[in-house]
Amino acid sequence: MFREAIERMAPYTPGEQPRPGQRLVKLNTNENPYPPSPGVRRAIIAEAGASLRLYPAPRADAFVAAAARLYGLPRGMILAGNGSDELLTMLFRAALGHGDRVAYALPTYSLYDTLAEIQEARIVAIPLGLDFALPLEALAAEQAQLTVVCSPNSPCGTAASPEALAVLARRLGRNLLAIDEAYADFAETNALALVRRHRNVIVLRTLSKSFSLAGMRLGLLFAQPPLIETLLKVKDSYNLSRIAVAAGAQALADAGWMRRNVERVKRTRAASEERLRKMGFTVPPSSSNFVLARLAGRDMGPVCAALRRRGVLVRHFPNSVFRDALRISIGTPAEMAALFKALEPLIKPVIAARPRRRARG
Ligand SMILES: Cc1ncc(COP(=O)(O)O)c(C=O)c1O
Repeated sequence: MFREAIERMAPYTPGEQPRPGQRLVKLNTNENPYPPSPGVRRAIIAEAGASLRLYPAPRADAFVAAAARLYGLPRGMILAGNGSDELLTMLFRAALGHGDRVAYALPTYSLYDTLAEIQEARIVAIPLGLDFALPLEALAAEQAQLTVVCSPNSPCGTAASPEALAVLARRLGRNLLAIDEAYADFAETNALALVRRHRNVIVLRTLSKSFSLAGMRLGLLFAQPPLIETLLKVKDSYNLSRIAVAAGAQALADAGWMRRNVERVKRTRAASEERLRKMGFTVPPSSSNFVLARLAGRDMGPVCAALRRRGVLVRHFPNSVFRDALRISIGTPAEMAALFKALEPLIKPVIAARPRRRARG
């Protein structure tokens, strides 16, 4: 009944979202444990009236204007999306047709696979290098129509340097380089400045993580005006609601609130990394709001399930080289204490048992 490619493909599986009233410590989808700014609440209430009869601004003007002020870029270089997932969808739709090539390093955000399969594009998957390093040479050699770099990357949390990304952008010439910076506010550096210098670079951000607005669905895409104009052709006319536009504009105006929450998350991240390492996990230094805790050669699926039974949600990726890892979002100190209380007794017997086989990757 549908296109064969769609019938054949596996659906994207989002992390579990608890039902209302379910009491779980939720450390599985990298949300922010702290609320959005009080100003955001006021902006939402102010918008929730008679104006809702009217369609919203097609280009989310107030939100884009606030982004232009915060990031120091002209409005013509900014596109607003219903979450960065929508912006990624627009990008894949506009850039890739049947048989076109899209390249990225694996493991990474698995939505890229889904979006490529919808387009019937060919995925060029290149393994991450040692210590999760960006395989710059291999990606450049491919010269795919679209290259995607997730930095900081999920699920390992490590970031590529802006210098390496600038080299990659140059090497890709007229082919597109999209840099997914969903977690950039938790990192020490970012690559946003590259959009000024490179006509082929697109940077994506989200308000779901650092700005505590996953439920509002707000994303931003930065690129030079000709790329923005082309992407607009595949955009839904009114992709952001009036409420989302108001909330997004206020959240960006209150960026100081976001930065304070990011600092709190980073402090809890440092303490959590140290504690996980003491327990015997290998933890790559994270530049994001989650950590990847690995026990080489041990399948962490049963530990993830046992944590779930004890009321703690974390993420496990059974079909990846990170089967031996848990991805743990950084919560409040109290949430992390609950995690460790549940995790420590589960891990002791796993460490005592001999690993079944060596981990790859
Ligand atoms: C790497 C990456 N990009 C994009 C997104 C999607 O963000 P949004 O909530 O803005 O759609 C996520 C969400 O987890 C992510 O991990």
